[in-house]
Amino acid sequence: MKPIIALTKGRLEKQFIKFLQSLNYEVEPIINKGRKLRVETDTFQFIFAKGPDVTTYVEHGIADLGIVGGDIIAEFQPDVFNLFPLPFGHCRMAVATEDGKVWPNQKKKIASKYTGITKEYFRNKGESVDIIKLEGSVELAPILGLADGIVDIVETGTTLKENGLVVQEEFFSFSARCIANRSSLKIKRDVLTPIIESFQKQEEYV
Ligand code: PRP
Repeated sequence: MKPIIALTKGRLEKQFIKFLQSLNYEVEPIINKGRKLRVETDTFQFIFAKGPDVTTYVEHGIADLGIVGGDIIAEFQPDVFNLFPLPFGHCRMAVATEDGKVWPNQKKKIASKYTGITKEYFRNKGESVDIIKLEGSVELAPILGLADGIVDIVETGTTLKENGLVVQEEFFSFSARCIANRSSLKIKRDVLTPIIESFQKQEEYV
């Protein structure tokens, strides 16, 4: 049986394909998958899901390995083996506000997809804030007056810039991570070990 890897759709998927290519794994079936959510290469079976769901599939042992952002691990703290960082998907978690705006005197309203991380960040500062949960396009919230600021990931900084927001503080850096189901690591050790070792040969990745 080929090992099953749950892969985060979107940006991480594209970066992971390049990473696989650099390690000489077959990638053509992934590139040409169309709208299919399951694909098999000569070495792996892949399933494609959103980040939080990748952790769910790995946690439940449906997938042996998962490729997911460090932000998702920090936010959801899934019960998986958090194996190692991968050499792509480098981002920072940041607090941002509208350019030129100062924080209000009253309790701040912070919009974020990451309510857990946001709560923790402001708790560490000894500050109580109102957190407004959004599912995406978080940068809209301060512009439209829904929130005073946001907590979100910054990769290139383009989204912030193009929406007139500036970083107040970057408080944690992360990359993509390889996670594993705890039982798979034991039961499928012979199959998974060479794969994990190949993924860890990061110095060969350009
Ligand atoms: C993420 C994040 C920012 C953007 C940052 O959103 O929430 O909006 O990427 O990237 P940048 O610094 O390179 O501009 P994503 O693209 O995942 O979409 P979303 O807004 O639907 O969450």
